Amino acid sequence: MDEAPVTIFVCVSCRRSLGDAEESFDQPGRGLVDTLQARMRDGGHTSVTVTPVDCLAVCKRPCTVALAGADKWTYLIGDLDPNSHAEEIVAAALSFAASENGIVPWRERPNSFRKGVIARVPPISA
Ligand code: FES
Repeated sequence: MDEAPVTIFVCVSCRRSLGDAEESFDQPGRGLVDTLQARMRDGGHTSVTVTPVDCLAVCKRPCTVALAGADKWTYLIGDLDPNSHAEEIVAAALSFAASENGIVPWRERPNSFRKGVIARVPPISA
């Protein structure tokens, strides 16, 4: 399967509450970037770039990622857990890269992507 270059943008600014105190939070996107970069490197998936970004405007649904590529629909996904969903994100990104236009068949989408999809935006060429 040919894979076109794609990017996973990961918000590293989202705050995930860890308790009632206002200062009780972590920023799970930071760890998710490291995990995804390692998985792509270790798996030899050179077609996928993992890029940290400061905000994807979905601040209440960490972790939030966007899948983007030239001439592909862009998907915005939230509610991702950096530990339990890392493999699903990798699989989804590879399916996205292999797709003609970024639309991955429903049956090939991981549950976390089915539940967490926030938006999809057509490519300029559409
Ligand atoms: S801070 Fe993460 S989407 Fe806004």
